[in-house]
Amino acid sequence: MNMNFLELIKNGSQLLKAKKIESHVLDSELIASFVFNRSRENILINSKEMVQSNEISFFNKLIERRKRYEPIAYIFNSKEFWSRDFKIDSRALIPRPETEMMVEAVSKILKNRKFSFLDVGVGSGCITASILFENLHSFGVGLDTSSSAIKVAKKNILRFKLQNRCKLLNRSYEKFYGYKFDLVVSNPPYIRSSDIKKLPMDIRKYEPRLALDGGKDGLDVIKKVIYKSRSTLKKNGLLAIEIGNGQFIKVSRLLKLLDYKIKLTIEDYQKNVRCIISLLK
Ligand SMILES: C[S@@+](CC[C@H](N)C(=O)[O-])C[C@H]1O[C@@H](n2cnc3c(N)ncnc32)[C@H](O)[C@@H]1O
Repeated sequence: MNMNFLELIKNGSQLLKAKKIESHVLDSELIASFVFNRSRENILINSKEMVQSNEISFFNKLIERRKRYEPIAYIFNSKEFWSRDFKIDSRALIPRPETEMMVEAVSKILKNRKFSFLDVGVGSGCITASILFENLHSFGVGLDTSSSAIKVAKKNILRFKLQNRCKLLNRSYEKFYGYKFDLVVSNPPYIRSSDIKKLPMDIRKYEPRLALDGGKDGLDVIKKVIYKSRSTLKKNGLLAIEIGNGQFIKVSRLLKLLDYKIKLTIEDYQKNVRCIISLLK
């Protein structure tokens, strides 16, 4: 069938709209940009240009995947984080912009220092790699209970040639002993088990449950990270932890109770505290 870019994108967008995908126009444009390896702007400017039938069928295949609510990042196997392209698939959580705020804050605090850090729940490796990029004298260990997530992290660490400054371990934090760090950083799973079913289909159906489910009150892993870091942090070491909406009061209470001093809190664009940086006294 003969068609131009405009018609192709419109078709794709309508198919996604029928599935109640809010970002149907953008997603269809992004898929076209990926299939034709041209920027969205370039395609929109040349919207009357005719397209080849083999490319139409590749485009339709990707639209079919999106129709089943697969996230764009998994379809493209790629997500930008801290201005770098991370290779990503459904074995690891898709890196989120909120997490970049935590990378920015710890890098600012530790600027120009030589330090070691532990990333609990390394996932795709986005936090570990970005801290290593920002802080040339740092060394990191990335832990994850999920052996599949560790494979994704390994791919990224090797692609970015950071393997000499980083070690990845397939282990849960509970079973990690023997080392002390200047910084423990973590974006743990923090969604309440009973809220998982309320998440958008993209997340619920495709992202790893282990990366989302924080137990009954959402705080299971957060609490473990706070308790356990008392023995993995050096004196005056920093704990940077990402939390979910509405968890700040409980988490800050626990931190104070366990001899941490809150140094900095970071809010997201909706003014919710999403990251706490504290010092172990
Ligand atoms: C929310 S994801 C974060 C991934 C990545 N750091 C990021 O920010 O995109 C949480 C990760 O923690 C891992 N995880 C869950 N419980 C853990 C535990 N007890 N010890 C180590 N890793 C754990 C999960 O497998 C998952 O990869």
